[in-house]
Amino acid sequence: MRRRLCAGNWKMNGTAASLAEIETLTRTHPTPQVDLLLCPPATLLAQASALAVGYPLTIGAQDCHQAASGAHTGDISAPMIADTGASAVLLGHSERRENHHETSDLIAEKVTSAWVAGLTAVVCLGETLAQREAAQALEVIADQLDTSLPDGATGANTVIAYEPVWAIGTGHTPTDAQIAEVHDFLRRRLTDRLGGDTADAIRLLYGGSVKPANAAEIFAISNVDGALVGGASLKATEFAAIMEALENAS
Ligand code: PGA
Repeated sequence: MRRRLCAGNWKMNGTAASLAEIETLTRTHPTPQVDLLLCPPATLLAQASALAVGYPLTIGAQDCHQAASGAHTGDISAPMIADTGASAVLLGHSERRENHHETSDLIAEKVTSAWVAGLTAVVCLGETLAQREAAQALEVIADQLDTSLPDGATGANTVIAYEPVWAIGTGHTPTDAQIAEVHDFLRRRLTDRLGGDTADAIRLLYGGSVKPANAAEIFAISNVDGALVGGASLKATEFAAIMEALENAS
């Protein structure tokens, strides 16, 4: 019942010239069989959204402020993101949690703001290496999920991305069993909180060093509904190869 989702996060990469990657994707893969989401830097949201018109690609931002407007120099609000034509936003990415000291309480406020603006919130969570080695991964993930996600999540307004911090940009990925353990755990926890029907509609993405070479194996894991791809989303050819692996996943 859940449509699979291949999502890309360009992070702080890309100028107007990078929009050619989106054009390449739409030209070479005119009829994707999975949902697509790309999150370019805020400077490119409007142009990327214009390029995505008529193609099944959602454009998303990488963060938003929790307030709708106000004296917050340098910040961008959820209604501003919606105004560009984008319709999703990544929230709680570990680089935001770490570099900008974002807490799960703050992320929950941002999620609410995103929902009010009509954006889908892609809520990111995941443990550090120290937490995994201390056997605290599930405890940390449970707390991040419970606290970062306000009441009111549905399959339409929310996607959850499990991204172990130690797998992001490192080339290291968890074992299949480790990913399955976390994704099954997330599904159970969502079910306990939201009930089976709502929980079953929320897509769970895995993120952290997903590449064309490991995508098929990751997509075969239980409760993995797609990927959030960083580095490999910058080139249309690599992103498309991951998308194809997801299309072919059973
Ligand atoms: P990576 O990043 O694919 O470059 O590891 C993933 C992410 O941070 O979303």
